[in-house]
Amino acid sequence: MRIPLIAGNWKMNNLIHQGVELVLKLRELTKGVNEVEIVVAPPFTSLYHLKFLLAGSPIKLAAQNLFWEKSGAYTGEVSAGMLKDVGCEYVIIGHSERRQYFHETEDAVNKKLLAAIGAGIKPIVCVGETLEERESGKTLEIVKFHVEKALTGKTGLAQGAIKDLTIAYEPVWAIGTGVNATPEEAEEVHNYIRELLFELFETNHAKDVRIIYGGSVKPSNIDSLMAQPNIDGALVGGACLKAEDFARIVKFQRA
Ligand code: 13P
Repeated sequence: MRIPLIAGNWKMNNLIHQGVELVLKLRELTKGVNEVEIVVAPPFTSLYHLKFLLAGSPIKLAAQNLFWEKSGAYTGEVSAGMLKDVGCEYVIIGHSERRQYFHETEDAVNKKLLAAIGAGIKPIVCVGETLEERESGKTLEIVKFHVEKALTGKTGLAQGAIKDLTIAYEPVWAIGTGVNATPEEAEEVHNYIRELLFELFETNHAKDVRIIYGGSVKPSNIDSLMAQPNIDGALVGGACLKAEDFARIVKFQRA
């Protein structure tokens, strides 16, 4: 059984007081929702404060990035252990914005994934093609490359370790553009990722990995996306910054 996961990636938005306001509203608006896992991923600067605000609430904390070393002379970086310390249950890894602006490689994504799992933090690994790649018919090839490199990389992932893994399919052309992948387009890729997982891991582990969709998710399209059999949730950008919109997404209606 895969419990739906709706995660809000705040990206580089919200000062601490704005984050507090958003989370307080969200707590109210999602009261009574217990069949969906709700996650917020604020900037590092808000994590400590929000940890206390979310104590006793079902809303969980995620970070947007981490570094794979445990500690040491890595100016500006934050380790998996530090994220655990500040109350993160999840971490987003390999977002296309990190790949694009910070030159994050497949190898880095793999190392971050292993570091997160090693520290007991659940990774949400992002994969997805650019518009150019989609238009040249390379979508599945790119997604396969991202998934295989992230999960097996140089040091393969232990079978049991994938139970806490979430994969986010985020087509780059759909991020922040207002143009989402249609439910059918997304389902085709999600189904393909599921098959890949069955190839890479044992069935009883692979079947439990959640594959969530990200890219212009909003209240008006969440219901049809969630109606697809292999869409297990959403990674929401823009729409998660408004409590009402994010709460509506969390409270998606099953078809
Ligand atoms: P948008 O929802 O703004 O398209 O962003 C998606 C995203 O990048 C989530 O990680």
